[in-house]
Amino acid sequence: MALTQLQISNVRNLLHVKLSNLQGVNVFFGCNGSGKTSVLESIHLLGMARSFRGSSVKSLINHSASCCTVFGTTAVDSPAAKEGVTRAGVPIGVQRNRSGEAQIKIGGKQVRTVAELAGQLPLQIITADSFGLLTGAPGARRQYLDWGVFHVEHQFFGQWQRFQRSMKQRNNLLRRGKITDEELSAWTRDLAQTGTAINEHRKAYFEILAPCFKEIMAKLAPSLVELELLYRQGWDRQLTYSEALQQGFVSDTEQGYTHSGPQRADIRVMSAGHLAAETLSRGQQKLVVCGLKLAQGMLMARLGVGKCTYLIDDLPSELDNAHSILVCELLASLKSQVFITCIDQREIRSVWPPSEGLAMFHVEQGVVNGYAEQ
Ligand SMILES: Nc1ncnc2c1ncn2[C@@H]1O[C@H](COP(=O)(O)OP(=O)(O)O)[C@@H](O)[C@H]1O
Ligand SMILES: [Mg+2]
Repeated sequence: MALTQLQISNVRNLLHVKLSNLQGVNVFFGCNGSGKTSVLESIHLLGMARSFRGSSVKSLINHSASCCTVFGTTAVDSPAAKEGVTRAGVPIGVQRNRSGEAQIKIGGKQVRTVAELAGQLPLQIITADSFGLLTGAPGARRQYLDWGVFHVEHQFFGQWQRFQRSMKQRNNLLRRGKITDEELSAWTRDLAQTGTAINEHRKAYFEILAPCFKEIMAKLAPSLVELELLYRQGWDRQLTYSEALQQGFVSDTEQGYTHSGPQRADIRVMSAGHLAAETLSRGQQKLVVCGLKLAQGMLMARLGVGKCTYLIDDLPSELDNAHSILVCELLASLKSQVFITCIDQREIRSVWPPSEGLAMFHVEQGVVNGYAEQ
C-alpha cells in the first residue's frame, strides 16, 4: 500500500494542504516550525486516527478550527516499486474533533474501529525520540511486536480483544476480594486460552523477525556484533499459561490483579550480553531502533503481506553521516514508500542513494509546495 494523494485540513498550522503527486520517496524540507512534522502527523492520523507525538488530539487541531481532517488515496503497489503496477486503491478519510470523537471512512463507508484503518496503511515511524523504544517501558516494545503480528496474522486482533476483556473481568473479580476459585475459573479458563494463543502468535512472529533484524544490523552496524533479541512471554517458560495462572492464584487474590501473562511480555535487546538500553550510546540505540523498524518492513515484504510506509522525522539526529547513508540505503532497498523531513533539502540529497528519485516539497508557514524532482 502507498499513498498517492493527500489532503490535510486544520492539522496544527496546516490549514489546507493538497498533495496530488506523491512518489516513492517524499522529502519535506523547510525551517523550524514550518509544518514538516505536522505533515507526518497528518499521515499518521490517516493511518492510525491519532498523532505519534504524545500530545492530545486537541493540540493537533488548528487553534481556530473545531476539527481536523485528512483524506488520502492509497494505491495497491508503492510507486517506489518501479517494477510494480500501480493500481488505484481506496480513499480513506479521518476526522477528529475537539471532544476526541473520530470519524473514519474507508472507500466512502464509515467504519467503527481503528483496527480496520490500520490494515489500510501500515505505518512505521522513526523520530528523534525513537530510542525510547529501547529505553522506555515494555509497553512500547509489546506494541512494536503486536504491530507486526497484527499485520501478518489476521486472527490476532480478535484474540487480543477477547484476552483484554477476560483480563478486565478477572481483575474486577480479584479486586472485589473474597472470591473462590470456582467464581474465577470461567474467566481464568478464557484468559488461559486467549493468552496462550496470543503468545503462540507472538512467538511465531518473533522467530521470523529476529533473523531479519540480524541481517539488517549486519549492514547497519557491523561493529555491534553480539546483538541479540530475546522474547519474554510474561510468565515462567517452563509452565503453560494455565499452570502459571494456577500457581499465581494466591498472590493474584491477595493483591487484587493478575500478575502473569502476555500483558507482561517484553522484547529484550542485548548487546554482548548486556541490555542495549543500558550500554549502547544514544546513536547506537537509534541505529538499533532503525534496525528493528526496518526488519518489520523487510519481513512484511518477504511474507508478501504488503509494504509499510515509513514516516521519518529528523533522521540525522543522533546519527552520523555514514550511518544516515546506511539507513537510507536500506530504506531504498525495501522499496517502501517514505516520507522524510529535513531542514535543508541537501541533507537528504547527500545521504539518499543518488540513483533514486526524490520528490521534494518545500514547507513554509503551513504551505506545502512541490519543489523539484530529481
Ligand atoms: N494546534 C495548533 N494550531 C496552530 N498551530 C499549531 C498548533 N500546534 C502547533 N502549531 C504550530 O505549528 C507549527 C508547525 O509545527 P511542526 O510541524 O512541529 O514544525 P516543524 O516540524 O516544521 O519544525 C509550529 O509553528 C507550531 O507552533
Ligand atoms: Mg519537526
